[in-house]
Amino acid sequence: MDVSLRRADLATRPAGMIAVGVPERTRTLTGAAQALDRASRGALSALLASGDFKGRALETALLYPKGIKAKRVLVVGLGAAGSLDAQRLLLAAATATRRARDLGAGTLALALHEQPGVAPALAVRATAEGALLGHHRHTAYHSAPLDPLARVELIGTLPASRALSTALEDGITRGTAIGLARDLGHTPGQDLVPETLAARAREIGRSAGAKVTVFDEAALERLGMGCVLGVGRGSANPPRFIVLDKASEKRGRSATVVLIGKGVTFDTGGYSLKPREGMSKMKYDMGGAAAVLGVFAALPALGLPFRLVGLIPSAENMVSERALKPGDVLRALDGTTVEVTNTDAEGRLLLADALGYARRLDPAVVVDLATLTGAISIALGRHYAGLFTSDDTLADELTRAGDAVGERLWRMPMGEQYLAEMKSDTADYVNANEKREGAASLAASFLQHFARDLRWAHLDIASTGWTYAERADSSRGPNAYGVRLLLQWLESRAGGRSGA
Ligand code: BES
Ligand code: MN
Ligand code: ZN
Repeated sequence: MDVSLRRADLATRPAGMIAVGVPERTRTLTGAAQALDRASRGALSALLASGDFKGRALETALLYPKGIKAKRVLVVGLGAAGSLDAQRLLLAAATATRRARDLGAGTLALALHEQPGVAPALAVRATAEGALLGHHRHTAYHSAPLDPLARVELIGTLPASRALSTALEDGITRGTAIGLARDLGHTPGQDLVPETLAARAREIGRSAGAKVTVFDEAALERLGMGCVLGVGRGSANPPRFIVLDKASEKRGRSATVVLIGKGVTFDTGGYSLKPREGMSKMKYDMGGAAAVLGVFAALPALGLPFRLVGLIPSAENMVSERALKPGDVLRALDGTTVEVTNTDAEGRLLLADALGYARRLDPAVVVDLATLTGAISIALGRHYAGLFTSDDTLADELTRAGDAVGERLWRMPMGEQYLAEMKSDTADYVNANEKREGAASLAASFLQHFARDLRWAHLDIASTGWTYAERADSSRGPNAYGVRLLLQWLESRAGGRSGA
């Protein structure tokens, strides 16, 4: 789908659909809505006068007015004018492209919001990004092509400028990156194994200007990543540890930010086999890795004043004569020994080695994302991911970033009391006990042991990484939760101070 920016008259613009936003409690139409209303001899004001359309956020009305060139007009509610922000504009754009796509409109002319409230460049970026998010669906495995939109034009009245075209490019880069991360999540386990994930990381890293290193089994052996090797041992598709390293774009010494993403390309549970119900969903057990790769794919839109390192421990959790057995003991990179009481608690094993590796980089801050526990969904439902950190400032930063983009976080407890429940008689720790109570906190507390004194946060995204009911900005299935939150967070760090 082609997304472009132009100065044009909406009324005479040929398109399968025109979309225009109208805030709540609008008495007199202004801007693009007013121009369309005049050309259509009052079609929009008649809609408002009817009371059928209130302008509530993402409410829609479809009109077939005379006097304009386009086939139809979608009026999209923008909600209360006072609370209008970039996120609202993004969702409005997503609503429009989704509707245009589903109606087979072919082309969409989207009126840019040029009223006060959101700076023009930010509005352009959010609209372009939203257009791509609303339009995205995973089509790689359909035999007949699903009808996509050919073109979305963002129509405004402001003169063309460097700032606006950069904003457009940034929005496209971000939207495309999120689509790519979603596609990775959707890809069946047969077609996405650790080595394929590594190959994708190489591509993405290369075009982002990052150095990508992939450790194979021999390298993992040499390094001493016993946990990654253990989890991957049962599969014909060997494990990988992927490192993406992007230097700061600022001269001189700068801090290192590390992002870690769980990259289990399929999780059967191993010998602690999962029940059959819903096991097919476990193809997205690399949702954390997808989020990290999505961030790297979006880096051209960022310009970071610090070094960014992505770490992806990747394995396929399988059953075979070689596979890990309950009771086996693994030695992590940092020397900690772990009795694997449950082979389905594999994510924390992968993350243990990744955290051990992160510590060697002397980072300013580390954030990991992982579809780690079913328990986080029991605790929080589908609207929040779990946030675990002992750093209040970092908790604030991440929570605020998530709120701004609608990827919400809820802080959860962890600590020594939980870890004490995971002592092993045989080794230092067990990877899981039989308790279902507080299982997300047990997992996080296990990770905390490996993070030691790092400034670190763990995001358990098992609750949010899958969209169940279609939303304006996401089809059903893996949704790349975390990319937008991390971009927002990285951006605020970049703007907030020099270095990280
Ligand atoms: N990948 C799963 C967690 C998960 C469950 C993600 C549902 C998304 C949806 C993880 O590896 C796992 O199996 N966790 C176990 C841990 C338990 C054995 C302590 C769980 O949550 O049941
Ligand atoms: Mn598991
Ligand atoms: Zn898993």
